Amino acid sequence: MEFFVVPDAASTGAIAAGILAAVIRSKPEAVLGLATGGSPLPVYAALAAHRLDMSGIRGFALDEYVGLPAGHPQSYAEVIRREVTERLHLDPARVSVPAGAAVDPERAAAAYDAAIAQAGGIDVQILGIGHNGHVAFNEPGSALDSRTRVEALTERTRQANARYFSSPDDVPGRCITQGLGTILEARQLLLVVSGADKADILHTALSGPVTTDCPASILQLHPHVTVVADETAAARLGSASASAETTPVTVRTGAVGV
Ligand code: PGA
Repeated sequence: MEFFVVPDAASTGAIAAGILAAVIRSKPEAVLGLATGGSPLPVYAALAAHRLDMSGIRGFALDEYVGLPAGHPQSYAEVIRREVTERLHLDPARVSVPAGAAVDPERAAAAYDAAIAQAGGIDVQILGIGHNGHVAFNEPGSALDSRTRVEALTERTRQANARYFSSPDDVPGRCITQGLGTILEARQLLLVVSGADKADILHTALSGPVTTDCPASILQLHPHVTVVADETAAARLGSASASAETTPVTVRTGAVGV
């Protein structure tokens, strides 16, 4: 596991964007796994500044709410359009988001999983981590080999996402999410995490047992994981955080100590 500790959220974006830019330069037709939420926003902003030719890039979002009408500003299709496709000048026809407004979302989920495979799989999957250890919308209890499917959101996740809606009641109760098994098939996982409120769960995910209680613990099963964390999120990760106080960027390889 490759590990970067940086001073702040903006720096997580710079480091992660540098990693993505290197992949894109070496593989102009790379398939990127796109995450929504707050954590990846600095990544997209920093990647845009690289001004790369993105015309060959393909993108797949991690998840989408079920039940929001097409064009709803908080649907992930719209978030991806605003924050990723337009910002990075991606071809919208090459960027896919699960069809949360489909008449048959289960079928749409299965088709989405198949589309990722047909595209040759994901080269780099950008990930955030939820306070309860979810990755994408794989809430605790999700099977480690789960595929893209319809899931219910936990109350905690609905509350966390209520900040984007005018009322907490407006947050949908269901979603389509890439499964943990689907995510594990990506060739590289790039976890971006910032904020003191993520310190405990990051420590649990990387240093605790691999368990369905903490879906993000699947990171320990993948051969190519890069974690980019700010100092506050990394505060419980052993010596990494201590050295980050004096060194702007700490790079560690190998297992994270408990
Ligand atoms: P956040 O969400 O980046 O907005 O904290 C992460 C997640 O819920 O996966």
